[in-house]
Amino acid sequence: MDNKLKVSIVAALADDYAIGYKGKLPWNLPADMKHFKALTTGGTVIMGKRTFESLPNGPLPNRTNIVLSSMISEGVNEGYFEANSLEDALELCSNAKEVFVIGGSAVYKQSADIADTMYLTWVHGKFKADTYFPEIDFNVWKEVSRTDHPADEKNEYPHSFVVYERIK
Ligand SMILES: NC(=O)c1ccc[n+]([C@@H]2O[C@H](COP(=O)([O-])OP(=O)(O)OC[C@H]3O[C@@H](n4cnc5c(N)ncnc54)[C@H](OP(=O)(O)O)[C@@H]3O)[C@@H](O)[C@H]2O)c1
Repeated sequence: MDNKLKVSIVAALADDYAIGYKGKLPWNLPADMKHFKALTTGGTVIMGKRTFESLPNGPLPNRTNIVLSSMISEGVNEGYFEANSLEDALELCSNAKEVFVIGGSAVYKQSADIADTMYLTWVHGKFKADTYFPEIDFNVWKEVSRTDHPADEKNEYPHSFVVYERIK
């Protein structure tokens, strides 16, 4: 039996790789929120401190939340764990089957070489942004599924849910 922890990146990015602006997402796309929730609920998520601080209601419910920070708080935190390196964060998940790395920029960069899968939502539009997804080397990633969605009354931008697996 394969007990290796599967590391999966989950991100929504614009065509120019933009992912954030002023501590928030550059867009409001309810379909992607729903997709993210369906993918990660019941699992373990690892995120950077700034992404954690951007969550409107604190730790994501029904998920084990691990927050990366160089400044570990004293005592126990309500609803999340802290780690001061990606290695330590992954160590905390050693009993899980899969862990979702959910950003932001530096955390995606640190995990790009070890991730097995990327669940990317491409948001087709142009946005004001100050935070970007790292460059993707498509020589090492194979697209294994894609669903394209046009804009609709609730979702202002066309978007594509794409899954990539690392080429072994
Ligand atoms: N579109 C998307 O899918 C998506 C996903 C996530 C976030 N975002 C957006 O991205 C922006 C936030 O991302 P960001 O790149 O600015 O910040 P971030 O990666 O969320 O957080 C950076 C912080 O995480 C901590 N950290 C990261 N790696 C660490 C490591 N190896 N060891 C210890 N601590 C580590 C450090 O915290 P300390 O300073 O405490 O040491 C660092 O300052 C927001 O705009 C957010 O909305 C978008």
